[in-house]
Amino acid sequence: MAGLARLEYRGYDSAGIAVVTEDQNSLARAKKAGKLAVLAAELKEHPLAPGTVAIGHTRWATHGAPTDENAHPHLAADGRIAIIHNGIIENHAALRSELKAGGVTFASDTDTETAGHLLAAEIDSGLSLAEAMRAVTRRLEGAFTLLAVDAREPHTVVGARRNSPLVVGLGENENFLGSDVIAFIEHTRTALELGQDEVVVITPDAVIVTDADGDEVQREPYSIDWDTTAAQKGGFPTFMDKEIHDQPAAVADTLRGRMDDNGRLMLDAGIIDEGVLNAIDKIVVIACGTAAYAGMVAKYAIEHWCRIPVEVELAHEFRYRDPVVSVKTLVVAISQSGETMDTIMAVRHAQQQGASVIGIVNVQGSTIAREADAVLYTRAGPEIAVASTKAFLAQITAAFLLGLFLSELRGNKYSDEIAEILEELDAMPAKIQWVLDTSEPIREIARSMAGERTVLFLGRHVGFPVALEGALKLKELAYIHAEGFAAGELKHGPIALIEKDLPVFIVLPSPRGRESLHAKVLSSIEEVKARGARILVLAEEGDDEAPLYADHVFYVPEAPVLLAPLLNVVPLQIFACSLAGAKGYDVDQPRNLAKSVTVE
Ligand code: AGP
Repeated sequence: MAGLARLEYRGYDSAGIAVVTEDQNSLARAKKAGKLAVLAAELKEHPLAPGTVAIGHTRWATHGAPTDENAHPHLAADGRIAIIHNGIIENHAALRSELKAGGVTFASDTDTETAGHLLAAEIDSGLSLAEAMRAVTRRLEGAFTLLAVDAREPHTVVGARRNSPLVVGLGENENFLGSDVIAFIEHTRTALELGQDEVVVITPDAVIVTDADGDEVQREPYSIDWDTTAAQKGGFPTFMDKEIHDQPAAVADTLRGRMDDNGRLMLDAGIIDEGVLNAIDKIVVIACGTAAYAGMVAKYAIEHWCRIPVEVELAHEFRYRDPVVSVKTLVVAISQSGETMDTIMAVRHAQQQGASVIGIVNVQGSTIAREADAVLYTRAGPEIAVASTKAFLAQITAAFLLGLFLSELRGNKYSDEIAEILEELDAMPAKIQWVLDTSEPIREIARSMAGERTVLFLGRHVGFPVALEGALKLKELAYIHAEGFAAGELKHGPIALIEKDLPVFIVLPSPRGRESLHAKVLSSIEEVKARGARILVLAEEGDDEAPLYADHVFYVPEAPVLLAPLLNVVPLQIFACSLAGAKGYDVDQPRNLAKSVTVE
């Protein structure tokens, strides 16, 4: 149950557990719709028979509504077998019809139950649980992590995975399986990964990994360097609060120790031949949601530093539009979880087209980290709150590092210029801390706006993706309609939305520098002010024009234009979190969302 609690961020609309009872001839199961607390209450009232072998599941519904019946584990063979599943079995309908035709009755609408009955049929034909699991995975199409127990094999749990995570925890006289190491790191820090279509059999004293044909596979264990406290709230009321305040460390840790003695960037894993990197003529960033906005920020910097075109593509759109990708394309996949199915499938498509892929990923050993040709880990630590904050800043930081590495490799920028930019980056954690320490005014204004129904966000240049991210945070956390616009786009239509007292948040660029867009954005402010909008402005310290135009001004420290998003997004995160809190919403687990969208 503790492990499930730490996995809840992956989806929490129902949960269940099945135990192989100590008299070892049956299973005891409980499952409930709703958050894990509902299941815990059920178990308190109706405790299961004791046992030391069990499987548990917290669900994010894909097939079948989040009901008690559709919650996992699902049973088969008259309750002797229990199965849980993450992912989507794409051919489940045909398999279901085949099973029904054979007389099987279904208790749920889920694709998972289909796999359970297939497993029972294979065992009835004389196979062991492990052999049956291999036979079943050969018949399934789609993405799945499956775990199953059979009361006839009371000391055994069998798991299988394809396009969905499954990690093994190696303990002392006990072993574990989980979607994420966080499920068992309080018991063991030694883990190992499974490859595609591999099946793992665990007992208290053995872990056997085989391929789909049953041939044993050797997998190298690795040690996990996250400690459980890192995933606790650390004194903050919510994970969201904690993680917003983790951001100085997330940026500093992502920057730390990145350069070798010759000042060359060091990637975390894998390599891409420098000849390939020198020959690339296009960079394509693929990501979803907040990670895509991080890619949009990075685009401005990388294009400026490297003089290579950078396209930012929503992963779920990318592979269906027959993109122009070649061996001279460098794909940068940005993903906190490393398990976003849309991004995984886009990565595979790009690799099939011959592109090299660098993953900017937060979760060690995740699918994208393992399948990319090289990895640059964001060292944000476990991000538990569903809405991404510290990973966003870490993603931008890592993308900047990649841009600097490429610019040096290709001779666009020279070591002294790069050293200067790195110095500015090294100063950012303290500046982010300054924003956090002076954030009470924005918390106050947010609480006063809990009744608002719409908020618009405007930004220009790198401020545009910041506006998009600010709007996304408000949507995700406070369930308020919010929209981000490029400030220059307003007059081409969206200005029709402006009416009296409509709150508009504007990211005002620094007034410093010849090419500053400060005046242009002030014009945008005047356009909306003239139509009665309520003006909230993020401005750089020392900007004494901003208060002449705004109803509320929130300052951030001076920073180079390209690095300013690392500061400007923080007040917008705090605004969304505080406003949602004032509405009494659960900012760690917003409705309808899951931390990692592991289905396409
Ligand atoms: C972030 O606040 C959102 N929850 C969501 O947009 C997220 O960024 C997106 O699903 C991508 O997730 P990933 O970074 O794990 O790939």
